[in-house]
Amino acid sequence: MTDEHSLSEHTRNILGLQLPTDPRWVNLAEISLEAILTDHAYCEQKAATTCITLIQRYSRRKELVAALAPIVTEEWGHFRLVLHELHKRGFQLGQQRKDLYVNKLLAFQQQGGDEEGRFLDQLLTMALIEARSCERFKRLSEGLEDAYLRQFYRRFMESEAGHYALFIELAELYIDKEKVRNRWQEWLAYEAEIMQALELRGDRIH
Ligand SMILES: [Fe+2]
Ligand SMILES: [Fe+2]
Repeated sequence: MTDEHSLSEHTRNILGLQLPTDPRWVNLAEISLEAILTDHAYCEQKAATTCITLIQRYSRRKELVAALAPIVTEEWGHFRLVLHELHKRGFQLGQQRKDLYVNKLLAFQQQGGDEEGRFLDQLLTMALIEARSCERFKRLSEGLEDAYLRQFYRRFMESEAGHYALFIELAELYIDKEKVRNRWQEWLAYEAEIMQALELRGDRIH
């Protein structure tokens, strides 16, 4: 749904995020590689799982189902790539941690009220996680010492930028564009608050 041009445009703008990642984060990540790769693997797993849930929940939205079905495969492919990287380095896939960042985002989702608003928030939550992941992967692709890993993370960065765009496009397909834009601004402001409040740790992607 997204052509090459608009994808790189999105990547250049770092996707509207209001708070850039603290530059020290890459150095912290670099010294906790096993933990960061483990956390990354579970981010990919959760992305795949959530896309499956959206397909189940909104099975009658034909375009959504068609668009997300291949994303499930892609995210699971990402999981496998990260798992391979862990094993290649003699690391193990550790335990899944409590995801404070995602839990905070979920708390912002509209719970009751109109169906459209709840649907929109689910799509925007995904868009936001993709955007922040993309930004973090960009940091890794630029700041890591290991040239192989820099390239490794560049591929993820590009892929997640495409996913971010896809979730926004899906929202705009089903819901009035102005409503999407306004709510997206609220999400961006809220996400910046979360990022500000969260402890800077090198053992997690967010
Ligand atoms: Fe991914
Ligand atoms: Fe993704």
